[in-house]
Amino acid sequence: MSDILVLYYSRYGSVAQMSQLVARGIEEVPEMTARIRTVPAVSAVCEASEDAIPSEGPPYVTQDDLRECTGLALGSPARFGNMAAALKYFLDGTGSLWLSGTMIGKPAAVFTSSSSMHGGQESTLITMMMPLLHHGMVVLGLPYSEPDLMSTQSGGTPYGASHVAGSDSKLPVTEEEKRLCHALGKRLAETARILEYHHKK
Ligand SMILES: Cc1cc2nc3c(=O)[nH]c(=O)nc-3n(C[C@H](O)[C@H](O)[C@H](O)COP(=O)(O)O)c2cc1C
Repeated sequence: MSDILVLYYSRYGSVAQMSQLVARGIEEVPEMTARIRTVPAVSAVCEASEDAIPSEGPPYVTQDDLRECTGLALGSPARFGNMAAALKYFLDGTGSLWLSGTMIGKPAAVFTSSSSMHGGQESTLITMMMPLLHHGMVVLGLPYSEPDLMSTQSGGTPYGASHVAGSDSKLPVTEEEKRLCHALGKRLAETARILEYHHKK
């Protein structure tokens, strides 16, 4: 079995829900398992540090998770058109992995949730790709052979899966958004399987 790391940050639950959908797409591919991980919130107040294991939800990610995975799905809420600081903080600590070229050639894909339809989903997704490209990862999007990309009235982009959560973050993930999350996970796992096969040859 090969693990695809599904690494996300979520404050109100939308990206957490999307990560489950991406994971289901991954696990549809034979021999592929989703390893779901999150990151602790960052705060300007430094007195309290998080427990090593969160009280609920998936474990916090470690650099070993990145080392061991054959691919990466990265999910973040939009924060002023960019990824959340908590996720960026973790990525900013991966300099030694970059130096050793550990992530080179592994496939990656990104997903996001935002309050508003035109509040920066594409810019969030594209800027999330930048550190992954610096790491030498093979970044994937969603092709227009996915009919939901044309018909969706909310989230779903060629740059990755997305969800429009509304101003109170309570809008349900639509069927189109769900299918696109699933398709992204599946495409990522299928690509990881092919690339892994070629690396082993
Ligand atoms: C500081 C901050 C900045 C945000 N920036 C944006 C933004 O640029 N565009 C947008 O549409 N929503 C923005 N939001 C809303 C979140 O992206 C939205 O609530 C998201 O769906 C939350 O995902 P979650 O449920 O996984 O936490 C922002 C929220 C916060 C707290």
